[in-house]
Amino acid sequence: MRAFLMLVLGMILGAAAIVVGVYFYFATGQAPVATSAFPMPFEKKLAHWALNATVGREMPKTVPLQPDDANLAAGAQIYREHCAVCHGLPEQKPTLIAAGMYPRPPKLLEGKGVTDDEPGESYWKVANGIRLTGMPGFRPRLSETQMWQVSLLVANADKLPKSVHDNLSVPMVTDEKAVPTK
Ligand code: HEC
Repeated sequence: MRAFLMLVLGMILGAAAIVVGVYFYFATGQAPVATSAFPMPFEKKLAHWALNATVGREMPKTVPLQPDDANLAAGAQIYREHCAVCHGLPEQKPTLIAAGMYPRPPKLLEGKGVTDDEPGESYWKVANGIRLTGMPGFRPRLSETQMWQVSLLVANADKLPKSVHDNLSVPMVTDEKAVPTK
C-alpha cells in the first residue's frame, strides 16, 4: 500500500515538473519565435502527426474533376496568382517572401512536390490551410472548382501538357528582385 502511494505521488510530482518545465520554456522566451530560429524540439514531428491524422480522416476520397487540359490550364492560372509567390515557378529563384518564411514553402512544380499525394489531400490543404505555417486556407475565397483545378495541377506537376508548362515558366514580376538563398 505504502509503495503504491509513493508511486502515485511520484507520478503526480513528475507530471507537475513537466508542466512547470514547459511553462518556463515558453514564458521565459526559450522557445524559438523568429522564422530564422532553430526548430523547436519535436515541432516538426508533432505538427506532422496532427496534420496527417486530420487530413487522412477528412480528405475527399473521390475527385469530382478530370485532369484534362482545360482544368489544368485553369489550375495554372490560379497557381500563378495565388500560390507561386510562396511555392515558386519552374526554374525561378524563390521570392523574398518565400525565402523569409518558416517553415519554408515546398516547391510544388519541381522535383517530387506533391505528385505522390492524392489530389484530395492537397485539396484539403488548399481549402483549410495549415495553421502556424503561413499556408493560407482558400475556402470560400476560391470556389470548389478552382480549388480542385489547382489541386489537380500540383498532383500532376510532373506530367503537365506543354502549353500549361509554358504558361508556368513565364517569370513573375517580383522575380527580378529575388535573391538566391541557399
Ligand atoms: C503565403 C505563402 C503560401 C501561399 C500563398 C500558399 N502556400 Fe501552400 N504552403 C505554404 C507553406 C509554408 C507550406 C508548408 C506547410 C508545412 O510545412 O506543413 C505549404 C504547404 C502546402 C501544401 C502541402 C505540401 C506538402 O508537402 O504536403 C500544398 C499542397 C500547398 N501548400 C498548396 C498550395 C496551393 C495550391 C496554393 C495556392 C492556391 C498555396 N499552397 C498557397 C505557404 C503558402
